[in-house]
Amino acid sequence: MTRTFETVGVVGLGTMGAGIAEVFARAEMSVIGVEADEAALERGRGHLETSTARAVARDRMTAEQQSALLGRITVTTSREDLADADLVVEAIPEIMEFKRGLFADLDRVCKPSAVLATNTSSLSVTAIAATTSRPAQVVGMHFFNPAPVMRLVEVISTVVTGEGLAGEIAGLARRLGKTPVTVGDRAGFVVNRLLLGYLNHACGLLESGLASRDDIDAAMKLGLGLPMGPFALLDLIGLDTSYEVCEVLFRESRDRRHAPAPVLREFVTAGLLGRKTGRGFYSYADGTPTVPESGPRAPVSMVGIVGSGPEVARLVADLDAAGFKATVAERSDLTPVADADVVVALSDRPVVELAVRLPHPERLVGLHLVGDRVAEVASTVLTSEEVAVAVQDLVTVLTRTPVRCGDRAEMVVDALLYPYLNDAVRMLDSGYATAAEIDDAMRLGCGHPAGPFEMLDAIGLERVRDGLRALYAEYREPSFAPAPLLDQLVTAGVPGFRSYAR
Ligand code: CAA
Repeated sequence: MTRTFETVGVVGLGTMGAGIAEVFARAEMSVIGVEADEAALERGRGHLETSTARAVARDRMTAEQQSALLGRITVTTSREDLADADLVVEAIPEIMEFKRGLFADLDRVCKPSAVLATNTSSLSVTAIAATTSRPAQVVGMHFFNPAPVMRLVEVISTVVTGEGLAGEIAGLARRLGKTPVTVGDRAGFVVNRLLLGYLNHACGLLESGLASRDDIDAAMKLGLGLPMGPFALLDLIGLDTSYEVCEVLFRESRDRRHAPAPVLREFVTAGLLGRKTGRGFYSYADGTPTVPESGPRAPVSMVGIVGSGPEVARLVADLDAAGFKATVAERSDLTPVADADVVVALSDRPVVELAVRLPHPERLVGLHLVGDRVAEVASTVLTSEEVAVAVQDLVTVLTRTPVRCGDRAEMVVDALLYPYLNDAVRMLDSGYATAAEIDDAMRLGCGHPAGPFEMLDAIGLERVRDGLRALYAEYREPSFAPAPLLDQLVTAGVPGFRSYAR
């Protein structure tokens, strides 16, 4: 017998809970929203009104539809009001003790046929299910922030989930206009396991001083076409949630990529949790962050370029169009660029070894062109600030956004991207999810333009493998070592994951 879900309870009306309540109400279901007290209920109502008002302002919904939608949601501080719900989705803070207490209570209050779902982003659904007398009717139903916008729902079934239930919840997710990806109960599921490792890594790069917050965000957003840079996204998710998810991931994986970066702890301790408190990596009170004034720049009439191939030819043409003279040298003989005012070495690897071969080592920077919109400008320990600023200006003239960084393997974008792709290969190899499921999850859950396997195929497996090797040699971080499956596919000459469907 297939269940029908017409009345749905949502416990916790914070950002996620209110978004989830809206999603159910949009699908014409009756929603009972539960909060702990009147003040929290008021905040929850506020979230619902703001979100639906935004849709009205954008002509996505009429005022009548908004009031009909809000009319389908009743709010209460009494859990007893959930007695007739067909399904209850929990969206309270990520603290196991709270969740277990709540589920024991829901088990008592809800009718025997009701399904209980948790929106936990990382905690064990099995452990939550075990606090009830109906573990076969407990699943994970994991939405993504902002819930009305993001199209993915991860459906998590445990070893004790009743047969067919995950399929029914996946069907419900489709009725909500979402795409379900059904997986087993493993810390972080698909998205958070891959996403938080990457976000935490960005915190590590910031702390190491490799690049600034704004440069890293611009690099990932403009360079890769992601909807947000890592720090803007951490602020959206909430730094407390991000910290907690990393903790849980680390406890299970023991992978240093998941060990929460100290800067996260510092923000959380200071009560700066991101958008929800008005300040995290960015401040949301006064809008846009201030861009620091840059200092004097070196005068440039002759640009030296080190490198070869079509990228160099294009750069020379672009510089010429912008009114600069350029001279080109191969890595083997730097004589042609010895007297240039600035020297850019096209590379994604450290360039200090080239600087020491020049009469003016302070004039050399590394330049890595990423996509069509970003250029990473890497200063070595010898580069003068005036030269770095001058190249930053040059890059702007070439209609690219400059990203200042240190002289390290793979600079910023690839240093963050390749280990994330490597994590996805390891996940595939573990048999947890298929390449198509992982791609769908990252595209629909995080708004990425492509999933990790689509990106791997587009970049080329060998290039990513070699990049990972360079990162490993530079940082000696065990998780940067290429995943054995990636290495083997390159060795076997398999062109991409499309020809290795699994
Ligand atoms: N509530 C409702 N709707 C919202 C919204 C919100 N909080 N924020 C944005 N929207 C809607 C807008 O109304 C707009 O809708 P239309 O296209 O119908 O007009 C649309 O989303 C786009 O919004 P904007 O134009 O204002 O802004 P944008 O184009 O910059 O997009 C964004 C904003 C949707 C948040 C986008 O930046 C994005 O996709 N970011 C990535 C978010 C992400 O990765 N989420 C997953 C986080 S991980 C997680 O949640 C799991 C966990 O457990 C931690």
